[in-house]
Amino acid sequence: MRLVIIGPPGAGKGTQAELLSRELAVPHFSTGDILREARRAETELGRRAQTYMDAGELVPDDVILRIMDEALQHSGGFLLDGFPRTVAQAEGLHRILAARDQRLDAVINLAVADEELVRRLSSRRICEDCGAVAQAIDRPASGVCSQCGGKLVQRPDDGPETIRRRLEVYRSQTQPVLRWYRGSDVPVLDIEGLGGVEDVQRRVAHRLEH
Ligand code: AP5
Repeated sequence: MRLVIIGPPGAGKGTQAELLSRELAVPHFSTGDILREARRAETELGRRAQTYMDAGELVPDDVILRIMDEALQHSGGFLLDGFPRTVAQAEGLHRILAARDQRLDAVINLAVADEELVRRLSSRRICEDCGAVAQAIDRPASGVCSQCGGKLVQRPDDGPETIRRRLEVYRSQTQPVLRWYRGSDVPVLDIEGLGGVEDVQRRVAHRLEH
């Protein structure tokens, strides 16, 4: 299956994509994770992306399209999280797939109210070393990553000002992507993202089956 998950910052794209990729046995590509990994490794890409990410702005389309063209080269099925995020990226993805005689099966649109997004993002902590997201329930006891023992920190773009900017960028640059897909022959599955992780997971599975 070839799927895209779209939603505002904090909607649960990464959380649901990880569960769904295991369920469907397809690779999960997150442009945010790829860029954060490049930052940790201090590569040229990481250095270039840092200023945009810390300000809550989007990394330029040509950089993202190059990364994804390469990432998708050997993938029959996949789950894309955080990409495409602009209409230019959606058009680029369409070209990349068409050149390989492939098309998307569906776009999953996760919707969550702004106040819940702000609550989730401001309380999120990630591991400074491996980047894993720590579930709130683990944190008070340990303060360290349950996977590698690294220190848990706030993601650099999860401060109040940057969250506000990311939400604006989502509305101005990513919502048009949903309109673009609604005008195409790729089905858009609108899913309520409020509620527990497992409830949302069940809703996604149900929409994919019917
Ligand atoms: P990216 O990493 O993609 O960030 P984002 O879209 O802002 O999304 P988040 O990772 O913040 O949230 P999410 O929806 O994945 O939610 P999560 O599952 O983590 O991008 C970061 C930056 O990289 C961008 O700002 C940009 O600069 C750059 N970038 C990336 N892709 C790009 C592209 N294509 N083009 C240009 N630039 C790009 O959940 C959030 C929190 O809520 C977690 O703590 C989680 O545990 C919790 N949670 C999840 N589900 C639930 C639930 N149901 N109930 C309660 N809590 C929940």
